[in-house]
Amino acid sequence: MTVPIAIIGTGIAGLSAARALQAAGHAIHLFDKSRGSGGRMSSKRSDAGALDMGAQYFTARDRRFAAAVQQWQADGHVAEWTPLLYNFHGGQLSLSPDEQVRWVGKPRMSAITRAMLGDMPVTFSCRITEVFRGEEHWNLLDADGRSHGPFSQVVIAIPAPQASTLLAAAPKLASVVAGVKMEPTWAVALAFDTPLETPLEGCFVQDSPIDWLARNRSKPGRDDKMDTWILHATSAWSRQHLDMPKEQVIDHLHGAFAELINCSMPAPAFTLAHRWLYARPAGGREVGALSDPDLGLYVCGDWCLSGRVEGAWLSGQEAARRLLEHLK
Ligand code: FAD
Ligand code: NAI
Repeated sequence: MTVPIAIIGTGIAGLSAARALQAAGHAIHLFDKSRGSGGRMSSKRSDAGALDMGAQYFTARDRRFAAAVQQWQADGHVAEWTPLLYNFHGGQLSLSPDEQVRWVGKPRMSAITRAMLGDMPVTFSCRITEVFRGEEHWNLLDADGRSHGPFSQVVIAIPAPQASTLLAAAPKLASVVAGVKMEPTWAVALAFDTPLETPLEGCFVQDSPIDWLARNRSKPGRDDKMDTWILHATSAWSRQHLDMPKEQVIDHLHGAFAELINCSMPAPAFTLAHRWLYARPAGGREVGALSDPDLGLYVCGDWCLSGRVEGAWLSGQEAARRLLEHLK
């Protein structure tokens, strides 16, 4: 019997590792605590349509990632997004065009991770709480007390603060991972029955509780009935208001949005708030991935590289590369 490799996390890092390992002929099995794949690239179904509450768009600066994006484009899962971009600075809104190519999942961000998952074996709604080694193989324990295994190796592809709790078998890795802090982001969606009278489609924001905002219908392949906007708070504001009730977060960010946009703003017909506890790594790190090949433990995620979609994908590739290298 082939003993598969366990991969914890079906965000883009875990899926990137899974695809590379499967392509090399290995059996894998994925686990995720959520009901679906995508992690911070997932889209939330709602009365206002599918909402990209996490990653908004991504750029491809690395040659290998650019090649993967090209393939996703050819398969119809991503398209270029060319928003009318603004900058808000010193109380002023101004056009802020640039030459940067920006990509989005089509018809929603989660289309990418859904396509990557394909028919790979996966167990959803399964929060792994312990990763432990028997005489020869690894086993996983979940929050409901169920045991999963045996596995020949384990790839942990989740945010650092969550990963550190699974690394009891590798204290050195655990202490490195425990040193990585991640910042929260409050995300709010506001949907209006009547479109706002503004040409703005995306905006980098300074001097406000808001960090970024985007008009969902400006992204390719969306067929929103309402004019839906996604607002992301800054890390600092999110940290300071971590436990604020969702209704109040919506009120605050709605108010900040009304202040910065130069048009009248009716009451939204639909609102939604989501708190990402581990949205982005604090500070930069360029480790690629972490591993203890003799033990058979690999750790990856956006926080090992740039804290962006591209970094997460590359980190998954690096974890797979190290694992395959060790098996040679
Ligand atoms: P994740 O996507 O977090 O995947 C980890 C997965 O592991 C999740 O599905 C989670 O459910 C699962 N999991 C966690 N713990 C366990 C456990 N114990 N057991 C089982 N499963 C577990 N990047 C960009 O490039 N451009 C952007 O515009 C952008 N905007 C962003 C905006 C927001 C609000 C946020 C939150 C992120 C944004 N990012 C952006 C960052 C980007 O989304 C991430 O870098 C990337 O998606 C991280 O992928 P990952 O696979 O490393 O982690
Ligand atoms: P990018 O090249 O578009 O942006 C990088 C940064 O440069 C932007 O954050 C912005 O500050 C600035 N910038 C870029 N173009 C600009 C323009 N036309 N006008 C004014 N400022 C501009 O994309 P990249 O490098 O791929 O970064 C990803 C984005 O994801 C960033 O905006 C980052 O803030 C965001 N992100 C958000 C997270 C969150 O939790 N809110 C987590 C991780 C990433």
